[in-house]
Amino acid sequence: MNGNWLHSLQERLWGVAPWDASKISDEWFRAHFEYAADVVNHWIGGVLDVRSARFLNFGCGDGITDLSLVLRYGATSIHGVDIRREYTKLPRIAREQLGMRRIPSALTFESITPGAPLAGQRALVDGIMSWSTFEHVQRDQLAPIFADLHACLRPGGYFFIQIEPLFYSPFGSHLRRYDDVPWHHLLASEEALWQVIKNHQGPIDAAEVDFGFADFGVDGYKEFVFKEYRSLNRLTADELVDLTTQAGFHVVRQERRNVEMEIPSALRGRYPDELLLNNEIFLLLSK
Ligand SMILES: C[S@@+](CC[C@H](N)C(=O)[O-])C[C@H]1O[C@@H](n2cnc3c(N)ncnc32)[C@H](O)[C@@H]1O
Repeated sequence: MNGNWLHSLQERLWGVAPWDASKISDEWFRAHFEYAADVVNHWIGGVLDVRSARFLNFGCGDGITDLSLVLRYGATSIHGVDIRREYTKLPRIAREQLGMRRIPSALTFESITPGAPLAGQRALVDGIMSWSTFEHVQRDQLAPIFADLHACLRPGGYFFIQIEPLFYSPFGSHLRRYDDVPWHHLLASEEALWQVIKNHQGPIDAAEVDFGFADFGVDGYKEFVFKEYRSLNRLTADELVDLTTQAGFHVVRQERRNVEMEIPSALRGRYPDELLLNNEIFLLLSK
């Protein structure tokens, strides 16, 4: 996007454009700039030198986490790919939330066709990260995408994946901003769920409102979010580990987080308890 040589020369001479985190007013921005970037750095920074490694972010979204990894953790090369083009908003977002005149040349972005192979198009990377993305990828594309990402990573490189909320967990529908009944998506019909969302009035949790909201408007955003729910691939933590190891990755470390909630009697026995309670996985893989 902005990786031209003049820009990187200017940065080498004078540093990146000034930025000021005290200007942050948006909770979605804060959640990614602070929390998500801290977690990614914690996992990947423990095994790679973030300052010298070349990274690929699969499903980068608006790129806020990548921007933070550059500004707060000194990353010098992150290439974000996504099937949408939300990252084109990053210069404006960085201006509004950080007072930053220009986003760093360490960041490059690319929009891709779902499932299109990436291997062979760029140099091998040292690290790949993916945040809240693999539950959205079409199920039949998962295995080819993991094989392709394996081919994009240098031997000895690392791949960090986070997914939250997992589908069978209380809010695995990703609809909590409109519907806070736990496991409602496993209990109610699709039509009943849509009615809840359609009838929702009032503000939604600011940390869950991304920068796409303004493009859609109140009703359009409801439709977008419901369509996203319908296309979730229902991946479980075990399936994620199986698919990635089948693609040739080795599990270095994983953490599964569970909720402490009472499982409704209507769901007991229909699904294993551990599936219903496991809402997050952090998975660190190596090649
Ligand atoms: C919930 S968003 C997360 C975005 C970003 N990682 C973040 O934390 O804000 C899921 C992202 O996955 C992207 N995505 C879905 N399927 C994809 C695919 N096959 N290839 C690349 N990105 C995909 C979506 O476009 C979306 O930006």
